[in-house]
Amino acid sequence: MIYKHLSIKIIATLFGLWFAVSLNAQASPDAGKELFKNYCAACHSKDMRSAATGPALGGAQTKWADDVALYAWIRNSQAMIQKGHPRAVELWNQYKPTVMTAFPNLTDDEIGSIMAYVNGVYDGTYGPKKDVAAVGTGAKVEEKSQLPMYLIIVGVLAILALLLTKIISNLNQIASAKEGYQVEAKTITQILTSKGVVTFLIFAVIILGAYTTVNKATELGRQEGYAPDQPIKFSHATHAGVHKIDCQYCHDSARRSKHSSIPGTNTCMNCHSAIKNGSMYGTAEITKIYASIGYDPSTQKYIENYNAKSEDEIKAIYTKWIGDEYKRVKEKADIDAEGERVVADQWANIKESLTNDQKKQIQGPIEWVRIHNLPDHVYFNHAQHVTVGKLACQTCHGKVEEMDLMKQMSPLSMGWCINCHRQTEVKFKDNAYYANYTRYHEELAAGKRDKVTVADIGGLECQKCHY
Ligand code: HEC
Ligand code: HEC
Ligand code: HEC
Ligand code: HEC
Ligand code: HEC
Repeated sequence: MIYKHLSIKIIATLFGLWFAVSLNAQASPDAGKELFKNYCAACHSKDMRSAATGPALGGAQTKWADDVALYAWIRNSQAMIQKGHPRAVELWNQYKPTVMTAFPNLTDDEIGSIMAYVNGVYDGTYGPKKDVAAVGTGAKVEEKSQLPMYLIIVGVLAILALLLTKIISNLNQIASAKEGYQVEAKTITQILTSKGVVTFLIFAVIILGAYTTVNKATELGRQEGYAPDQPIKFSHATHAGVHKIDCQYCHDSARRSKHSSIPGTNTCMNCHSAIKNGSMYGTAEITKIYASIGYDPSTQKYIENYNAKSEDEIKAIYTKWIGDEYKRVKEKADIDAEGERVVADQWANIKESLTNDQKKQIQGPIEWVRIHNLPDHVYFNHAQHVTVGKLACQTCHGKVEEMDLMKQMSPLSMGWCINCHRQTEVKFKDNAYYANYTRYHEELAAGKRDKVTVADIGGLECQKCHY
């Protein structure tokens, strides 16, 4: 019958349409990131004033009554100041005579994307953000879940499809009656329990399940490409790249133990008790090392009883240091209004970065955000791979020496481990660790085998990798 599969097709098409629309409706934070880097980053950062000329853009959108004014500002800020828009005038009084570049050619979409990028990594506080997965949704940025809206859309579509199916069924009855034989019009219950609808529902549940699982995995951060902001803008490109510091200088436990630990603040101090300013952030980021461990760079001494000091006492020490450095760099005798703003911004940034939910005070170890993280049921050993297997760190972690922000390069999935174990030849010959594999040694000597892979020595056995 001609109408037989029509209802399924209608549902599928509507579903597809809705899906396409919902995907397109989002301004893209990825595109925004590129635009931000190209046009705005010279003067703005997302979350702190740093050395930049303009204000941090995180949260800026909320300071504008409406997006029309904000977008107009970005296209031509001076025009908005002349018009006397209250936010524009307020900004100008704070930042004059610095003039923001005009961007008359940016489209609404492009500006929306930039704001989505900026807001997506901004959670309402200054300082480093833990969540890069959060994504804004275009010009009107909402952090709220969109699930209720999706459910309503799905509901409306389902009712629509049901009605259509019922109409088709009735049409069928009329058509068949004309041809002289009888077909019953289907009741709503019959339609709901028909094979096609049930198949479709199962299919939808599977898609939804897969979708939420992927989302959950993203939340856990156990994901390729994961690159959260850290409490300190620590750059591997600066340390391991430009200054060629050996990975093991900082991650020394990789060679001899299961874990490759993150260096403690004392390791940083080996160099940073002397290197007090950076070429990128000036005093801003390195001061965080001092504030966490209680080193006073002005007197070059560790502060006694640092852990018992109040926030105000700590603030006095480090704002003095930042202020002195500001005066030194700008060759000024006193702190001017801009200097005061720099000191206040930097202090706010230091405080945010070092204080978090686990660590309610500024003092104490720096809480780096963990990036690589296998589930608890998996056993992975660095020494086994680095010392015995003689693998370079870069095999699994990528070109770390080029990363400003650390990023997870490998999927860390079971397939990833297994593939490498199948393909990788173990350095068998002169490795004392494999001395007891007599049979392989004999076979190699007799020319019966040309190589031994990790799989050959048991690298695919479940219990080797699972507790
Ligand atoms: C040449 C430096 C410069 C560039 C490039 C620049 N800005 Fe600005 N921006 C500023 C300054 C300075 C201010 C403060 C107001 C003033 O002095 O005009 C500002 C203010 C802003 C504000 C207002 C913030 C608030 O708190 O209300 C927004 C929004 C903004 N800029 C967005 C952008 C975007 C988006 C880009 C890139 C497309 C950009 N800016 C590029 C210098 C710049
Ligand atoms: C000067 C010290 C230092 C050096 C040298 C260094 N690292 Fe790191 N590494 C750190 C710090 C601090 C972190 C934590 C902050 C971060 O993730 O950026 C870290 C994080 C990492 C992480 C991510 C850890 C996680 O949370 O999953 C990896 C992987 C890593 N480093 C690999 C390397 C490799 C490979 C090299 C050599 C090319 C290297 N590091 C050199 C200090 C260092
Ligand atoms: C072996 C020496 C050494 C060690 C150890 C070291 N650093 Fe550095 N660090 C440097 C050098 C050199 C620079 C470059 C300074 C410059 O920009 O001129 C630097 C720059 C930085 C900067 C960049 C500042 C800027 O504005 O450019 C930060 C932040 C930083 N280090 C943090 C850390 C942290 C956190 C640790 C400990 C985990 C650490 N460093 C360990 C040598 C070291
Ligand atoms: C065979 C692949 C592989 C090699 C080679 C490797 N790593 Fe890792 N690395 C991993 C995996 C997998 C994890 C996640 C471990 C976990 O979650 O238990 C990890 C985690 C880390 C971490 C986070 C802390 C931890 O142990 O969980 C650091 C730091 C690190 N690696 C540094 C290094 C350095 C430095 C080297 C080189 C000396 C290196 N890695 C070589 C696979 C590798
Ligand atoms: C070379 C190491 C390795 C071997 C061998 C290995 N696994 Fe895994 N397995 C992993 C890793 C890593 C994960 C975690 C994957 C993730 O988190 O995405 C995992 C995850 C799993 C999971 C959980 C799936 C999930 O999504 O968390 C099961 C079940 C599992 N493995 C079963 C097995 C069985 C059965 C074998 C033997 C046939 C085996 N594994 C052999 C490394 C291994």
